[in-house]
Amino acid sequence: KTGMFTYDPGFTSTAACDSAITYIDGDKGELLYRGYPIDQLAEKSSFLEVCFLLLYGDLPKKNELADFSNRVTRHTMVHEQMHYFYRGFRRDAHPMAIVTGVVGAMAAFYHDSTDISDPVQREIASIRMIAKIPTIAAMAYKYSVGQPFVYPRNDLDYASNFLHMCFAVPAEEYKIDPVVAKAMDRIFTLHADHEQNASTSTVRLSGSSDANPFACIAAGVACLWGPAHGGANEAALNMLREIGTVDRIPEYIEKAKDKNDPFRLMGFGHRVYKNYDPRAAVMQESAREVLELLGVENNPTLQVAQELEKIALSDPYFVDRKLYPNVDFYSGIILDAIGFPTSMFTAIFALSRTVGWIAQWKEMIGDPQKKIGRPRQLYNGVAARDYTPISER
Ligand code: SDX
Repeated sequence: KTGMFTYDPGFTSTAACDSAITYIDGDKGELLYRGYPIDQLAEKSSFLEVCFLLLYGDLPKKNELADFSNRVTRHTMVHEQMHYFYRGFRRDAHPMAIVTGVVGAMAAFYHDSTDISDPVQREIASIRMIAKIPTIAAMAYKYSVGQPFVYPRNDLDYASNFLHMCFAVPAEEYKIDPVVAKAMDRIFTLHADHEQNASTSTVRLSGSSDANPFACIAAGVACLWGPAHGGANEAALNMLREIGTVDRIPEYIEKAKDKNDPFRLMGFGHRVYKNYDPRAAVMQESAREVLELLGVENNPTLQVAQELEKIALSDPYFVDRKLYPNVDFYSGIILDAIGFPTSMFTAIFALSRTVGWIAQWKEMIGDPQKKIGRPRQLYNGVAARDYTPISER
């Protein structure tokens, strides 16, 4: 028993580790960050406040939030030499390929925060990573569209600064709409952490060798890119666009059910949630708000998504397998409406999840008992045998 939860012995036998950061009840569709329900945080909190909560365990007092925001704001610029690093990439490189490379390269730029035995350096590395990831992602976007990099501004909040760095150009400031900035901030919060998913487990396992923290986060970025994981938001919008109109939905539902067809409904199903992903519910509401603001509430993609969800959730194939929309099903609709290309969707997921990766890495590094260590295997290969000279093979 730990506080309010009693572990099911069967569950702990498969747990990769114990952690006090995020709790998911997949059957109930519940997600708590340090005990706070995700829908309350998405509605009432801000992403930077959620970062503080995930990192330090409690919601900040006013002065604590001001100090934390100030520390993050003053680390948003990247080393000027990194601009040259970007120029080595092809212009058509996928932003996730660039972000993976640049985050890993931070280990070559920031030497004074990699002695992880020193809690002070761990803290510096943590703040730097959270502060710089929006700049790195925005620079990957700017590079891919052939526009000059835009420097961060200290007078903007975290989400507004990211929008500014992506969409401002030297000839014209980007007009930040508060509804769009709130939707961006909410997307960051909804993706911030999700207990031991594939990319977080990758970061924890990498960190268990005391590797450079920036290299561990780069490993998490690489894992998140997969279409079965963080890459699903890009795949989901591409799927909704391919379906195109409501009358074509039944054809795709049948494809998703056909075992001989590799097609799956992207943005549907989850390894843990066997109920509605609570993040998807907030995301759907946010999509309606943003599209209404932008005067495109009858956006065909949203209509296809809502009709697809309705049809799938009344189909025994999906109901019997407890397949519901996940966090990736609606997020792409909002990001597309804001103006991002689908290639940036997973980079935005990685930006949001960086605080979760850092919080989980800090929790593990700070308590050697929590290190995943070296997983073993069940060997099912051939039994021991002697070497056969090639003349006898
Ligand atoms: C994320 O772990 C996390 O926390 C991840 C994440 C996070 O915040 O970090 O939540 C983010 O990765 C969300 C998931 C994004 N991926 C997708 O949306 C891709 C599409 N979804 C699937 O690939 C799939 O649902 C997985 C990979 C997410 C889960 O795969 P599982 O574990 O095989 O799914 P399952 O056990 O629920 O499958 C049970 C059955 C299987 O069929 P049967 O063998 O029983 O006949 O459902 C089928 C699956 O084939 N199935 C689907 C389906 N997902 C599962 N059939 C059609 N479409 C789908 N999307």
